[in-house]
Amino acid sequence: MAAEPRPAAGDGTVQTERSVLVGVCGGIAIYKSVELVRSLVTEGFTPTVLLTEAAERFVTPLTFAAVSKSAVLQDETAWQASGGWFQHIEAARGAQVLCVAPATANTLAKMAAGMADNLLTAVYLAFRGRVVIAPSMNWAMYEHPATQDNLRRLAERGADVLDTGSGDLACGEEGSGRMADPQTILSAIRRAFNQSAAGPLTGRKVIVTAGGTREPVDAVRYVGNRSSGRMGRALADEAHLRGADVVLVTTVDRGETAYRTVSVESAADMAAAVHAETATADVLVMAAAVADFTPGTRVEGKIERGETETLGLQLVRTQDILLASARPGLLRVGFAAEAGPRLDRARAKYEQKGVDLLVFNDILASGVGIGSLENEITIISPEGDVHIPRTSKAVCARAVMTEVERMLASH
Ligand code: CTP
Repeated sequence: MAAEPRPAAGDGTVQTERSVLVGVCGGIAIYKSVELVRSLVTEGFTPTVLLTEAAERFVTPLTFAAVSKSAVLQDETAWQASGGWFQHIEAARGAQVLCVAPATANTLAKMAAGMADNLLTAVYLAFRGRVVIAPSMNWAMYEHPATQDNLRRLAERGADVLDTGSGDLACGEEGSGRMADPQTILSAIRRAFNQSAAGPLTGRKVIVTAGGTREPVDAVRYVGNRSSGRMGRALADEAHLRGADVVLVTTVDRGETAYRTVSVESAADMAAAVHAETATADVLVMAAAVADFTPGTRVEGKIERGETETLGLQLVRTQDILLASARPGLLRVGFAAEAGPRLDRARAKYEQKGVDLLVFNDILASGVGIGSLENEITIISPEGDVHIPRTSKAVCARAVMTEVERMLASH
């Protein structure tokens, strides 16, 4: 008889707040900070923006309030709200990571000297978590020994000082000093969470597979499927945020990651990469849609149409990577994408593959699963099922990793 689903850990939506303070100084690169804050929100972080007076000359607090979906901290309101400098202690206490982007020469100098003459610099002094700094300024100001000294001092104190790019600068000159791209800053913020995590996944090696494999027919054609690689990417991101040493083996490039990725194409490539990586791993999450069959022979060059009316493809079975990876000490998580509400079929796979957890989803349900942004899953585990109603793949990934951590902690 099927067990009653048990509630997911936490409040049922598996929301653990990941709060980031984003200190914004007055520089033209501020437009990239708006994008950074927006990406933080879409990727499940809770940003609180802190503007210096100079920053407000470039962008109004309203813009940041709208993209961050929360009140913006300003020097002016810091004084008004509490009648003193209490807001900086509150802000510093509530966040896990502080990111200053853009960090101008003036603010960098104040941070290096330990001054606290505005809200941002006071927060920096009161803050005890990881700090990410994205400098932005004219090339001559950036290269000046005073600025370079300040950056070195901040890095020596543990801040992750990001490199600047070179090229056209807003001042019309060319050179270094251009702020890192939002995606690069986001990766640094993710690394900061990874380094400050302290849970069952911290320091564990986790291999995640993602995307649909492409089975070559000839030099240009392949047999494939519609998997977007998003669920696997979300799982890898989540494990990394929880402190894991993550390797993502994927057929789809979904942009910069904060951890190592291995690009593969076919089921055979994926099998080779997974076996090489899992030799030293603690967890394997097979989220990829691996082809069950592949062309028996690969035609060199290109199959020509000629006068041919029909073309037969002889397909042969691929290796079941998940099954072949079984070994003591490796926690394995499988996926079962079924056509219909076939939880019974998923349960049979759970037994047959001998996995620790199996994530079931119904690919026929509308708006979820393969190729979509959202998913609805049931996690089958020895403790009973956990059902996660339709939500983002990031929230689904949190639920899966919470179950993985629970199993690691109880082993
Ligand atoms: N899988 C695998 N190697 C394969 C095929 C599947 O490692 N050659 C993994 C998938 O990544 C997934 C799990 O096995 O985690 C189940 O995949 P699925 O395609 O749902 O099941 P199959 O075992 O292929 O069975 P069927 O196609 O009959 O549903």
